[in-house]
Amino acid sequence: MQYSSLVGRIAGDGADAWVIHYTARQAQERGEDVILLSVGDPDLDSPTPVLERAIERLRAGDTHYTPAPGRQHLREAIAAAHRARTGQPVDAANVIFLAGAQNALFVTSLCIAGPGDEVIALEPLYPSYPATLEVGGANMVRVAAPAERGFRIDPAALEAAITPRTRALFFATPNNPSGVILSDDDLAAIGNLARRHSLWVVADEVYAGLAPDGRVPSLAAELPEQVVTISSLSKSHSMPGWRAGWLVGPPQLVIHAEAMAQCMLFGLPGFIQEAAATALSVSDAAESRVREYCAVRRDFLLAGLDGIPGLKCFVPDAGMFLLIDVRATGLSGYDFMCELYRTERVSVLDGGAFGKETSGFVRVCFATDEALLRQAIVRIRRFVETLVRQE
Ligand SMILES: Cc1ncc(COP(=O)(O)O)c(C=O)c1O
Repeated sequence: MQYSSLVGRIAGDGADAWVIHYTARQAQERGEDVILLSVGDPDLDSPTPVLERAIERLRAGDTHYTPAPGRQHLREAIAAAHRARTGQPVDAANVIFLAGAQNALFVTSLCIAGPGDEVIALEPLYPSYPATLEVGGANMVRVAAPAERGFRIDPAALEAAITPRTRALFFATPNNPSGVILSDDDLAAIGNLARRHSLWVVADEVYAGLAPDGRVPSLAAELPEQVVTISSLSKSHSMPGWRAGWLVGPPQLVIHAEAMAQCMLFGLPGFIQEAAATALSVSDAAESRVREYCAVRRDFLLAGLDGIPGLKCFVPDAGMFLLIDVRATGLSGYDFMCELYRTERVSVLDGGAFGKETSGFVRVCFATDEALLRQAIVRIRRFVETLVRQE
């Protein structure tokens, strides 16, 4: 039987990146001694009031169909949170509730770029971006934020990549995997280009709650007709399994997104929406809990890896990931990932999954139990020392 051309566009690197992770997870499920540092899933329970609200709503029978863009009060709560963070005067008409930031990226991509269009994505980039941005037929053009610039953008390279077919600029701030937060100057350069070339600016702010004070510089208030802000509760509130995310953008985009959500989701579960609204009502406490958890473990990991010959850590501005430059060990990020797992059963992610700039790096998620991190440090040290001895 034949499949559509779409299936070819979604079977890219994004899927391959997780090979070791899935192998490790299966081994863990079999009860084997593996340490999983390959995925950004904080080792923290969801906030208690959120759990209680979901259970209460389930018991109350909140298990029926719901409106495609999300319940009005939840959209208002998301709009209020966005207003407070960015200063952009939005209301519920600017918001649609979707199944996580990933779903919001997918919907946005399909709504703003089609066959023959180009979308620019800043690299390093989250491995799901290529498939997500190209699924509708657009071409994703990578523009590097080079390692030697500390993964900061190069406005000239960005400008050089713009063609008459360019529709949008996609980026994550804080970035996954580098943890770099785009500065006011970076955003001013992006804003200028967006204005001059009438481009959409899609800001994936899924880690913004983990930035200092829970906010990042944003262009949303300055370019309200062009900026789409994407976020979720996955990271900031430690709620990845709830699939609770959204986009905030111009009302016409939300109308198109609603039509798409109607085809795709037909409304998200009511009890999850109520729990999401509760999560937003306890954001300050929920976010500072995850932020602190991550900051303590980042420092712990940095201290533990300090002095291991051949490893150089890139200190992130925010988030839950550490990029380790492994080039001096003589291995690529991919080989380091495979060998570390084979010999020590520690699962990290090949930096190459995020693009060429990080191919000599591995990404380690530190949002996990401290005892596990301690073990991981011991194993990583042993692994690297073995490499050095073999030389
Ligand atoms: C940069 C980035 N965007 C989006 C997502 C997806 O987030 P969500 O769980 O809200 O779909 C992730 C998840 O790791 C991410 O790292």
